[in-house]
Amino acid sequence: MVTDTEAIGIFSVIRERRSVRDYVDRDLPDEALRAIIAAGVQAPNALGLQPWRFVVVKDRSLMRRASDYCKPILAEKIGGEPRPGVENFLMALKDPEYSIFYNAPALVLVLGAREVVSSAIDCALCAENMMLAAWAIGIGSCWVGSAALIQQNPDLLRALKVPDDHRIVAPLIFGYPAPLQPKPGRREPQITWIP
Ligand SMILES: Cc1cc2nc3c(=O)[nH]c(=O)nc-3n(C[C@H](O)[C@H](O)[C@H](O)COP(=O)(O)O)c2cc1C
Repeated sequence: MVTDTEAIGIFSVIRERRSVRDYVDRDLPDEALRAIIAAGVQAPNALGLQPWRFVVVKDRSLMRRASDYCKPILAEKIGGEPRPGVENFLMALKDPEYSIFYNAPALVLVLGAREVVSSAIDCALCAENMMLAAWAIGIGSCWVGSAALIQQNPDLLRALKVPDDHRIVAPLIFGYPAPLQPKPGRREPQITWIP
């Protein structure tokens, strides 16, 4: 069980964590990535099946290749969506310098076993543990859902060593944060109390 002081620490990590989209140019130690993954696998998972595995990508040119593959598909997908904020994202996607991975030094793919029905949920819980653990040790992260498009590209899947019997559930980037943006606020939760 956690002590009162530890509990305060956990709540503050949960409260303060935010998606980081700007990183300093500094590599992450492998031990930090191992510690983050070790926290990930402590997540609850249906039937205790632990249907996850991980690919750690530090090869920036491969990340660039993956980003360059996803960008035009994303631009095409969201091009017709008249939602606020979309114009800026569209412009960024057309910039050759822009990376959907925000120049982070590491991408970790959380892969879910296809044969396990709960693997998407299990891997999402694992991913949240990883992002919280990272924040607790001063490492920023962001779930880059756009990168799931990699799933459509057999060459990239091969290069990223994603086995056929797994799919990409959570593409997570990690790195040391540049000066942080404020965390987006949250609506008051709607809670129904019974009674
Ligand atoms: C399933 C999922 C997909 C996401 N995909 C992206 C993405 O492709 N690019 C990005 O910059 N952020 C992405 N995010 C991060 C969200 O935009 C972010 O969590 C949300 O705006 C709340 O901000 P916060 O994480 O700073 O609290 C994604 C988050 C989740 C959970």
